[in-house]
Amino acid sequence: MFADKVLVHFNQIFSPIDLGRPLKGKEMSDATIIEDGFIAIKDGKILALGSGEPDASLVNAQTEIIDYTGKMASPGLIDCHTHLVYGGSRENEFSKKLNGVSYLDILREGGGILSTVRATQAASFDTMYDKTKNLLDKMLVHGVTTVEAKSGYGLNWETEKRQMDVVKKLDEMEPIDLVSTFMGAHAIPAEFKENPEGFIDIIIEEMLPKVKEENLAEFCDIFCETGVFNAHESRKLLLAAKEMGFKLKIHADEIDSIGGVDVAAEVGAVSAEHLMAATDEGIKKMADANVIGNLLPGTTFSLMVNTYAPAKKMLDAGMAITLSTDSNPGSCPTANIQFMMQLGCFEMGLTPIQVFNAVTINAAYSIDRGDTIGSFKEGKRADIAIFDAANIDYPLYFFATNLVKDVYKDGQLVVK
Ligand code: NIG
Ligand code: FE
Repeated sequence: MFADKVLVHFNQIFSPIDLGRPLKGKEMSDATIIEDGFIAIKDGKILALGSGEPDASLVNAQTEIIDYTGKMASPGLIDCHTHLVYGGSRENEFSKKLNGVSYLDILREGGGILSTVRATQAASFDTMYDKTKNLLDKMLVHGVTTVEAKSGYGLNWETEKRQMDVVKKLDEMEPIDLVSTFMGAHAIPAEFKENPEGFIDIIIEEMLPKVKEENLAEFCDIFCETGVFNAHESRKLLLAAKEMGFKLKIHADEIDSIGGVDVAAEVGAVSAEHLMAATDEGIKKMADANVIGNLLPGTTFSLMVNTYAPAKKMLDAGMAITLSTDSNPGSCPTANIQFMMQLGCFEMGLTPIQVFNAVTINAAYSIDRGDTIGSFKEGKRADIAIFDAANIDYPLYFFATNLVKDVYKDGQLVVK
């Protein structure tokens, strides 16, 4: 079969080993690095990968050959944890934080997530669509081809639905693919302050069935944290969601360790997110239950707390880990996944290969897309991030600068 396009003469291609499941522990230190590599594309999918000149059997007169001498290629980056769709912004909290007021204190005073909830409830579909599209455009130029997006700034059905409708339409209209997560249990609405479980019951009885019926989200997530939802409420919601056919995620051990990790292991969550405060015991439970640890170092950076998730301990325990932005207006306002990858190296001690595996193959499995993206396996979508770098070390070492040159989505050049 002849290729539509062959991208040739990459100095290096980073090609994750694809075992048909997330890479765990030591497996994350391995990858195939192809020197003088080529990638052949047919009908938007990967046709072949190799070194040197592409085989004559791949090329005919119609095949477009594009030269990438000196560059490095990786599968399109996958940002597998974001809170993308919202109204307003929260730079007004920045000075408070710089003066030592904590994230949870701001939330306790009715600010934080609750202030974004008020702005989101007031924002129209079009306003949020344009705002989120702008953010997606910025992510795409950083090499991101797939994004997970959570609701959770509505806390009432009408607004939660509007957020998820925005995700659905952006997925249809924009080159980036979006995977939708329903996170109605992101904060406790003021009227349920004394009765958080009452709000969980409303989510279970009234919201989840509609999310399912209208096919608005694949995953269900909850914020298990001091002053938000406890382990009992988290378990109750996630078990009900599982029963209705949702795949599960949980924000656990972000600031305090209050049992969210145990819930993740018990209910069979695909991933536990944040894990800055993860304990040795929790790490063992997640490793045993095959829960992927989704680590968000930009949040540690932005909260200025200096407690990075213990990534190396997780790998030593045999866990699979991913990295993502957590992009949101409060605890991590950013569109730059490359900076998260750099924090993975500089602050968590991960190697470039571990980091690239985290944001490609493992991120794909964490959003249930491991069969179609995340590696250069033949037949997978031709989503490719091309770096202005000669090898995979360089874009991690040369920090805080966007080094992505070109991006292909489904074989089409979408960033140049
Ligand atoms: O992942 N933890 C809860 N949610 C977000 C923060 C959202 C916000 O502050 O607006 C997070 O950190
Ligand atoms: Fe989050």
